[in-house]
Amino acid sequence: MDEKSIAWKTALQCHAQGAQIVLSNAPVALRMGEINKLSELIQAPVVGADVTNMDDLKKLFEESQKHFNGGIDFILHSIGMSLNVRKGKHYTEMNYEWNQKTLDISATSLHRVLKTAWDMDALNEWGSVVALTYIAAQRVFPDYNEMADAKALLESIARSFGYNYGLKKKVRVNTISQSPTRTTAGSGVKGFDAFIDYAEKMSPLGNATAEDCANYCAFMFSDMSRYITMQNLFHDGGFSFTGVSTAIVESIEKANG
Ligand SMILES: NC(=O)c1ccc[n+]([C@@H]2O[C@H](COP(=O)([O-])OP(=O)(O)OC[C@H]3O[C@@H](n4cnc5c(N)ncnc54)[C@H](O)[C@@H]3O)[C@@H](O)[C@H]2O)c1
Repeated sequence: MDEKSIAWKTALQCHAQGAQIVLSNAPVALRMGEINKLSELIQAPVVGADVTNMDDLKKLFEESQKHFNGGIDFILHSIGMSLNVRKGKHYTEMNYEWNQKTLDISATSLHRVLKTAWDMDALNEWGSVVALTYIAAQRVFPDYNEMADAKALLESIARSFGYNYGLKKKVRVNTISQSPTRTTAGSGVKGFDAFIDYAEKMSPLGNATAEDCANYCAFMFSDMSRYITMQNLFHDGGFSFTGVSTAIVESIEKANG
């Protein structure tokens, strides 16, 4: 996590709106120290947790409840990692052990977070949980590789847990499907620059920025969005419903001479 991260920008925006926040990241990522800058900026404690470890998650929720002196109103799940992408394995050559880890870190982790909150009754009524996703869950983007499958699972968990948590405590669970954005995780995708230009040209409003994504998350955490749950919400400048754009047609015509 660094200042380009969507979670970083969301924390700043929520702080600006008056929220109190607890920051978390994997213990190995904390060693980079970047998160301490954010922690100072918004007076938020940092609690390390590997999202695939249930003991770590329990500790994270315990410390958070102590800090808030009560329940939690909202959670942002902003976690993604693909071992097969990182190690350069093509989708058709997948290493299944790495794939299991990818799915656990990037998708099942949302279930783990929600189950921990559920068991501890840590979320307040009308609480809101958002996880970040990408349109590769619905359409093929070849270089997104196994992360496409992880995002499809993530979106499904948001629906299924959203149903159960809605019934139990009116807690809302949604995914926000964000435009490609220049961050550490984003730039790990092969051919990312071409990819981001293509999306920019395809979207009538252009690509949504990380700051705009942060604003949307803050809205989803607020009471202004109380009846939105179990949704996958596209935040992509219109990309998802555009078949082809004039800019793309013109660039192909130009290339064809
Ligand atoms: N950048 C994009 O183009 C884009 C587009 C759509 C969706 N998203 C999604 O947004 C989310 C945030 O990504 P980002 O682009 O801000 O990049 P990022 O690299 O800043 O965020 C990913 C975070 O996941 C953390 N993480 C990895 N393994 C973990 C573990 N085991 N336990 C706890 N944390 C762990 C990393 O330390 C990192 O902080 C991800 O879910 C990503 O897939 C990104």
